Amino acid sequence: MPKTEIKPAEGKLGILIPGLGAVSTTFMAGVMRIRKGLSKPFGSVSQMQTIRLGRRDEHRTPMVRDFVPLADLLDIEFAAWDIFGDNAYEAARKAGVLDVRDLDDVREDLEKIKPMPAVFDQNFVKNIEGTNIKQGATKWDLAEQVREDIRRFRREHNLARMVTVWCASTEVYIVHKPVHESIESFERGLQENSEWISPSMIYAYASIMEGVPYANGAPHLTTDIPALDALAREKVVAISGKDFKTGQTLMKTMVAPGIKSRMLGVKGWFSTNILGNRDGLVLDDPGSFKSKEISKKSALEYIFQPEMYPDLYKDAYHKVRINYYPPKGDDKEGWDNIDIFGWLGYPMQIKINFLCKDSILAAPVVLDLALFMDLAQRAGMKGVQEWLSFYFKAPMHAPEVYPEHDLFIQHTKLKNTLRHMMGEEPITHLGLEYYKL
Ligand SMILES: NC(=O)c1ccc[n+]([C@@H]2O[C@H](COP(=O)([O-])OP(=O)(O)OC[C@H]3O[C@@H](n4cnc5c(N)ncnc54)[C@H](O)[C@@H]3O)[C@@H](O)[C@H]2O)c1
Repeated sequence: MPKTEIKPAEGKLGILIPGLGAVSTTFMAGVMRIRKGLSKPFGSVSQMQTIRLGRRDEHRTPMVRDFVPLADLLDIEFAAWDIFGDNAYEAARKAGVLDVRDLDDVREDLEKIKPMPAVFDQNFVKNIEGTNIKQGATKWDLAEQVREDIRRFRREHNLARMVTVWCASTEVYIVHKPVHESIESFERGLQENSEWISPSMIYAYASIMEGVPYANGAPHLTTDIPALDALAREKVVAISGKDFKTGQTLMKTMVAPGIKSRMLGVKGWFSTNILGNRDGLVLDDPGSFKSKEISKKSALEYIFQPEMYPDLYKDAYHKVRINYYPPKGDDKEGWDNIDIFGWLGYPMQIKINFLCKDSILAAPVVLDLALFMDLAQRAGMKGVQEWLSFYFKAPMHAPEVYPEHDLFIQHTKLKNTLRHMMGEEPITHLGLEYYKL
């Protein structure tokens, strides 16, 4: 199998992050601690996982990070935008995810990260107000300012490459509008201040125009519109999204494929959770919640395929609730009640009570996405990176296919893509070759 031509990961990689909140500061502080040898990158596939190559009796299982040419953690620089002026240390203290002692070990490095003024529009995020915000007569002007921020970051840190990962608040739910349909209509919309162009679309447009890959960690549309998809392909830039797969949805996409693989039926799946961080506050607004609800709900429908298995899943009732409850902070608690049935229709129940830390689950996802998006970019892979579905609740996909939500298929797809890039055979797990003698 021919190896894909991949440019080497030489020089420094800049990671640009809209949103200096719980997830991004936990990610940055983590990378800084890992670089100093103070912590290990638990939860990161790129840093901790091995990859089997060839037959099982060949015993070739390098670390992923030794197999594909990824940026070294020592070569990473960070930049962020936020509507609040707190530096990354102050923002991390306020987010309250990591212990003060863990933050203090890397305090100096965190304090150096001061947020650039944000592109912000209260019509898209209702429940927060800040002062560190860009001013511009048109959305086009704002995009130009973001492009200049990106170029300055490149110059000041002498970066070889960059990648943007959205870690800012979830914007309200909107659907495709005519302004989203083509590059021309989108650019006209920027100039005419179209109300349907959100801040996240402005960051994404600016990134793509600067040749910087863009990953969307929240459920809102951003690059999931024809205009930015076309722009990414035209500019040969990688894009991916949407919504980091963590917490309850991560659990769902682990459990649901198991239930389905054994042809057990589902009568209902009720998910509720409480969380008290700023993300929870933003999601308390019905518009932002709607974006999240749609992203969270779609996973089960695609995994169960009720149209193919009506007896098992046609009437499955699925409800998702998110409740803002400040005392919980970033320690989310989720409950799932799953009513299933088996042989002869006899009912059973599964209860899951997940006490998780959202940002602890999200931080390694940000790291892997940044490194793999940079890899894809160096490999000339343009447009939607479906092989990174593993990391998303609502994976972006080609229009003619449905998204793959099953975590285990996504995992196989991720690893086979890495094998394919490096000229190794994909692994089918057929295994008949061991029994031919
Ligand atoms: N933590 C998880 O497990 C997880 C999972 C999936 C998705 N997400 C998404 O990731 C995002 C970040 O989550 P978080 O817990 O860090 O939230 P957070 O509220 O702690 O941080 C978000 C930050 O974004 C800032 N912000 C809002 N609008 C902005 C804009 N237009 N430009 C720049 N900054 C802006 C806010 O001021 C805030 O500091 C949210 O959209 C969340 O829904 C998180």
